[in-house]
Amino acid sequence: MSTNVTKTTKSRKSGATKARSTKSKAAAPRSKARAKPKNETPEAETKTLLGDDHFAGLAPGKAPTINMGGQPAFFSCWDIHAYYGESYIVQGVTFDVREGEIIALLGRNGAGKTSTLRAISRVDDPALRHGEIWLDHKPLHQMKAFEASRVGIGLVPEDRRIIQGLTVEENLKLAQIAPPVGWSLERIYDLFPRLGERRTQEGTTLSGGEQQMLAIGRTLARDVKLLLLDEPYEGLAPVIVQEIERTLEQIKTLGMTTIIVEQNAIAALHLADRAIILDMGQVVFDGVAQEVLDNADLRQQYLAI
Ligand SMILES: Nc1ncnc2c1ncn2[C@@H]1O[C@H](COP(=O)(O)OP(=O)(O)O)[C@@H](O)[C@H]1O
Ligand SMILES: [Mg+2]
Repeated sequence: MSTNVTKTTKSRKSGATKARSTKSKAAAPRSKARAKPKNETPEAETKTLLGDDHFAGLAPGKAPTINMGGQPAFFSCWDIHAYYGESYIVQGVTFDVREGEIIALLGRNGAGKTSTLRAISRVDDPALRHGEIWLDHKPLHQMKAFEASRVGIGLVPEDRRIIQGLTVEENLKLAQIAPPVGWSLERIYDLFPRLGERRTQEGTTLSGGEQQMLAIGRTLARDVKLLLLDEPYEGLAPVIVQEIERTLEQIKTLGMTTIIVEQNAIAALHLADRAIILDMGQVVFDGVAQEVLDNADLRQQYLAI
């Protein structure tokens, strides 16, 4: 069955104010995650293919289709709910990504963008308590972080996590210590000549921009099917942002499927094909990136720009 997720999120947009005013994230009971999805349209009701206990092994066994003309999406998040302890943060997020597509995942500070990327990457926190996540027919929701990485999730975290005491090259080689190996070091140095020049320098002594390049390079050193970038431009000088933007454009032409979270929404929207906007842990917009660039009201309401 194929339904239109854009329709769903648009209809939710009108109901979003009500939903927000009645919700208290921190106080949300655990049973909330078991509640029926909050989508309001009849289509949304019928598209739900998950029972309350699907998470205990009753998954449909194939990637759900949302708006893909009956084809399974390359990547899908399906009604995911995730918690830090009892804090209910990711509140029923659903979206799909086509192979080779670039998604800008946007929203104000605290909207749940990082938490969504972390839930997708299957790190322990936030804990995924409901929903399904599929990458290229593989059920990520049933995996731990190391397994998700093995099947192609490549998260470049906001804090970059360059390993202290290792050179640039050692950081890259460490990423390749276990299969599946992705790009060769030569290819990474071609993409980021600065890293090649500094290959023997300790990674943590690089500038912020260079560390960001190393964090991206290290992820590409693994065989990545979905690149997740969390605020790659954060704290960087405009000239470095432009340099990294050019690199991401190059990665885009190679057809790398990517989700980019960025406070610099305009830059992300120029790079992206599609935009998904989160507000208080829910999708409030899913549509072409240009639509957000063209719609000042939407940007003002959800992005404050
Ligand atoms: N480790 C954590 N423990 C508890 N709450 C958290 C944690 N990390 C983030 N949060 C809360 O989750 C919400 C969403 O945060 P986050 O996903 O980081 O938002 P964004 O990336 O959109 O700025 C915020 O209210 C934040 O305070
Ligand atoms: Mg964040």
